[in-house]
Amino acid sequence: MTIKKAVIPAAGLGTRFLPATKAQPKEMLPVVDKPAIQYIVEEAVASGIESIIIVTGRNKRSIEDHFDRSIELEQTLEEKGKKEILAELQGISNLASIHYIRQREPLGLGHAVLSARQFIGDEPFAVLLGDDLMMSKKPALRQLMDVHEKMGTDVVGVQHVAPEDVSKYGIIDPRACTGSVYELADLVEKPSVDEAPSMIAVMGRYVLNPSIFPVLEFLERGTGGEIQLTDALRKQCAASPIHAVLLEGQRYDIGDKFGYLRAGIEMALSRPEMRGQVLAYLDGLHGRMAVQ
Ligand code: G1P
Repeated sequence: MTIKKAVIPAAGLGTRFLPATKAQPKEMLPVVDKPAIQYIVEEAVASGIESIIIVTGRNKRSIEDHFDRSIELEQTLEEKGKKEILAELQGISNLASIHYIRQREPLGLGHAVLSARQFIGDEPFAVLLGDDLMMSKKPALRQLMDVHEKMGTDVVGVQHVAPEDVSKYGIIDPRACTGSVYELADLVEKPSVDEAPSMIAVMGRYVLNPSIFPVLEFLERGTGGEIQLTDALRKQCAASPIHAVLLEGQRYDIGDKFGYLRAGIEMALSRPEMRGQVLAYLDGLHGRMAVQ
């Protein structure tokens, strides 16, 4: 079945990024000239998603303002003849049909997804996490949707990680592999490196069947005292097959300070109008630092 709806959880406090996130949502931190969450919405739309529900919390109003129209700004740009940026702004508010719901308690990713149940109804849907920015030829979510359309199963996006990073992620236990698609025997949330079944980590992209909702509803709290989506998938996995697709493309963890810097630099390098300038700067910087 084609996936038309997506959930973007955005209720997190952004504590890894304080003080920048004291008075603004982490999802609104700019990567070059766009807030991080706009890249996520654009990936969803490029994958074929038509309706998005963003699960927000307190202090997240600027996300709604960003995807809304700004009539005064549009009028001013019109009067000044700034057609290009005007069209870009109008494009943002026309990207998709975007809805909002508040997660009343910070009970984790599984709980955030469960909050979107009424909006999703009885159809398969996508989940995209805002900390994972993906730069790829085929949109990352589309890579999952292609597998779901063939198999009809729950699908998660994965990439290999270094041993020291294993405990930050949901880790899969693959049973079989065909090309870039794994069939899962199990998956576990944030294991220690000694207990990890592999070094292949879930990267913040999911396509889920609505049968996940009753599982989430009755799930006990897991790692960090939170309702974990990985734990719900683990239960699903015991009952019916789940697949993982090895994502093609570069992923940036923008919840991490260095990951955020890398994303800014590499996204700027991917823009033809900035590439030369940034490369020249990096070259010069390298020279300057070597001299010091
Ligand atoms: C969440 C998921 C985890 C996944 C990760 C990807 O963890 O719980 O399974 O691997 O996102 O970024 P979080 O980073 O929210 O702690």
